[in-house]
Amino acid sequence: MLIDIITIFPDIFRPYFDESILKIAQNKNKLKIRLRDVRDYTLDAHRKVDDRPFGGGPGMVMAPEPIFRAVEKIRRRKKAKIILLSPQGKTLNQKLAQKLSHCRHLILICGRYEGVDERVREALADEEISIGDYVLTGGELAAMVLVDAVARLIPGVLGDEDSARLESYSENLLEYPQYTRPADFRGMRVPRILLSGNHKKIEEWRSKEALKTTRKKRPDLLK
Ligand code: ADE
Repeated sequence: MLIDIITIFPDIFRPYFDESILKIAQNKNKLKIRLRDVRDYTLDAHRKVDDRPFGGGPGMVMAPEPIFRAVEKIRRRKKAKIILLSPQGKTLNQKLAQKLSHCRHLILICGRYEGVDERVREALADEEISIGDYVLTGGELAAMVLVDAVARLIPGVLGDEDSARLESYSENLLEYPQYTRPADFRGMRVPRILLSGNHKKIEEWRSKEALKTTRKKRPDLLK
């Protein structure tokens, strides 16, 4: 998968993308991330990416020209999915992440300041995605969250063991409880079944617990 990220802060992504699963995904050539500085697509000497809003009001609005130019330069012959990160978008969830993990090319546009010129939303973006009902200072963190959620679902990114677990428990259930050594920590004991070595029983217990946890904490997921 190829992911282009259009942002005015390309540097803030690097430390996160260069660690852990995302690093592995890139090293395995399952994922390529390209950071695109909006300023590189401006046409003026000052590399201006924003301007005052028509009609007045506080703050600045990200201008359409550099964003359109960036997308037009990046887009390949094959269709890329262009996503605007914004609090107005549809909320990202596991199902949407799963759907996006099948795309070959994503172009993520990170909004900033008071907003993005509406024509980006209307005439450029295929989809608008939010990561939750709160307002961030920009789309950068949201883009990182989206990349993280999607990258781990690309086939071959996680090891066999992890992907198997992903498949059996992913969409509608929360995780079952996990324990590691010691079996008795300050008097808190690990459920005996997990020490039994009976894999069939352990699987049954885990399914039951996942269901129980979901029913208790997130009953809405079971609907
Ligand atoms: N930009 C600002 N807030 C956001 C949010 N909640 N999701 C996606 N992009 C955003």
